[in-house]
Amino acid sequence: MAATEQTFIAVKPDGVQRGLIGPIISRFENRGFKLVAIKLVTPSKEHLEKHYEDLSDKPFFKGLITYMGSGPVAAMVWEGRDACKTGRSILGATNPLASAPGTIRGDFAIDVGRNVCHGSDGVESAKKEIALWFKPEEIQTYKLAQHDWIY
Ligand code: RTP
Repeated sequence: MAATEQTFIAVKPDGVQRGLIGPIISRFENRGFKLVAIKLVTPSKEHLEKHYEDLSDKPFFKGLITYMGSGPVAAMVWEGRDACKTGRSILGATNPLASAPGTIRGDFAIDVGRNVCHGSDGVESAKKEIALWFKPEEIQTYKLAQHDWIY
């Protein structure tokens, strides 16, 4: 059985401005994942440069930092089995034109530079990203209601 993990998911400024926080949260809730942290934050340039440090040599880096700092981001931590990999599959491919219909990007985006959401690409990067965006006391512990008629 896949391990229970936490992943960092963010609704990017374009997603927040388009009113997509609710639909994005619903997809994770409907799938059975548990929301354990959430906040709206307009990240500083320094914060984003840290978040995207692995991409600092990419030609789109500067534009990416400007885009991500252009308004509030809905930063979240979701928990559940295989949350990192499954979270990425809920988001869809990085380039929305390659994202399957039914994924968030496949349903809501067409431009790689305005692709609505972010998700950690693995357990190690999730740990790093969660520590960058949240204080430990901002992560909640609780049980989801269990129903024997929902599978
Ligand atoms: P994210 O970190 O946002 O979840 O995206 P990702 O892992 O799927 O993709 P990554 O390669 O890490 O790229 C980060 C973000 O940079 C923007 N991007 N623009 N203009 C371009 O060719 C280009 N390529 C990537 C996207 O917003 C992408 O999500």
